[in-house]
Amino acid sequence: MENFIVHNPTVLHFGRDVVNELGNTVAKYGKRVLLVYGKGSVKQTGLYQQILQQLTKVKAEVYEYSGIKPNPVVEDVDAAAALGRAKAIDVIVAVGGGSVIDSAKVISITIPAYQSAWDFFAQKAKPTSAIPVMAVLTLAATGTEMNPFAVLQNVRSKNKQGFGNPLMYPRHSFLDPSNTFSVPKNYTAYGVVDLIAHALESYFGKGDASLSDKIVFSVIKEAMEYGPDLLKNLRDYDLRARIMYAATLALNGITINGRVSGEWGVHSIGHVISVLYDTPHGATLSIAYPAWLKLVKDQIPERIQLLGKNLFNTDSIDKTIEKLEALFKKLESPVRLKEIKLTTNHHQQIIDQMIKSKVNGANIRLTEEDYPRLVSFMA
Ligand code: NZQ
Ligand code: ZN
Repeated sequence: MENFIVHNPTVLHFGRDVVNELGNTVAKYGKRVLLVYGKGSVKQTGLYQQILQQLTKVKAEVYEYSGIKPNPVVEDVDAAAALGRAKAIDVIVAVGGGSVIDSAKVISITIPAYQSAWDFFAQKAKPTSAIPVMAVLTLAATGTEMNPFAVLQNVRSKNKQGFGNPLMYPRHSFLDPSNTFSVPKNYTAYGVVDLIAHALESYFGKGDASLSDKIVFSVIKEAMEYGPDLLKNLRDYDLRARIMYAATLALNGITINGRVSGEWGVHSIGHVISVLYDTPHGATLSIAYPAWLKLVKDQIPERIQLLGKNLFNTDSIDKTIEKLEALFKKLESPVRLKEIKLTTNHHQQIIDQMIKSKVNGANIRLTEEDYPRLVSFMA
């Protein structure tokens, strides 16, 4: 087991009506608020009105930046940061899924930095301070509500990339499972896939951490047990709650303690597909995970076997991969490129982008010669 430090500073407010605690919490940080949200789901559900009530109750001055798109782009982050800087805001309230909250986390370090957010992603700058972020989560998937990471796209350079810094933990995150009732079936499924993928990326990382392995199995079992039911009962509070908590735990650090690092090779493949075709994040992972396992199975046979034993009660490596693929199918998430209308005509473009993005993991190394095989497994 490796040395590790645990310090997760996010205060998590979980359960029914926790949004009612937002106003007083925001007031502790200041009066001038930048409210960030997406393309409009928050207005349809009434959550927007509830948030405004909370903010007006404490006499906050509210400035809005809306229209953050799924697979968020750096241009929005820079524009929102410019607005926040001009209005000298004290606190950011982000209401949405991973795309909105990730954007808010990067806005928070960009405002004081007076430069483009991409400079952080391109390793040209390091954040030195951050405006406090309050996150109101509306989609269970990414774990961004309790971690220091964000993923952005740079459309011009065709790049989708992650960045993390301890300054980027949300100060408070408000998770009311009822706020996820309206997430459509497909995005609900992508969220379940994403949380499974996060647990697996941790599991396949470097280092021996048996208790962290067991936490991984538990998180995935929760998703296996309740994910398919949730797809049939989208407004079931308890099912939404179980999946929401599982998604938070899948990427808040608890699955990684005692390891050198996570793996993240499959996410790097997924980002290639998202940046080229704007595919939802979870949908790229259900396609990429089984393919990646088929590619690397001879390098990590014991790890796949241990996973299979714990999740699917099998010693067979191939059966384990089959069962994982079957689970993604059961969740109605795509497992082949052709299901998202990417045919042989697209394969070379994907391979070229993999080369450009230097697709790889931290532990199990891929070479450029591997990419065509990987694409053939995804086809
Ligand atoms: O824009 P609006 O109108 O809000 O609609 C969104 C969007 O169309 C909709 N939605 C969200 N909450 C809803 C809702 N619709 C109805 N009711 C609600 N309650 O769902 C769509 C997808 O939203 P998005 O935020 O893009 O989804 P998700 O939470 O899956 O976030 C995906 C992004 O997070 C990144 C991904 O790469 C992707 O860019 N990730 C971030 C990570 C992190 N920060 O740790 C780790 C992950 O691996 C992931 O890479
Ligand atoms: Zn993910």
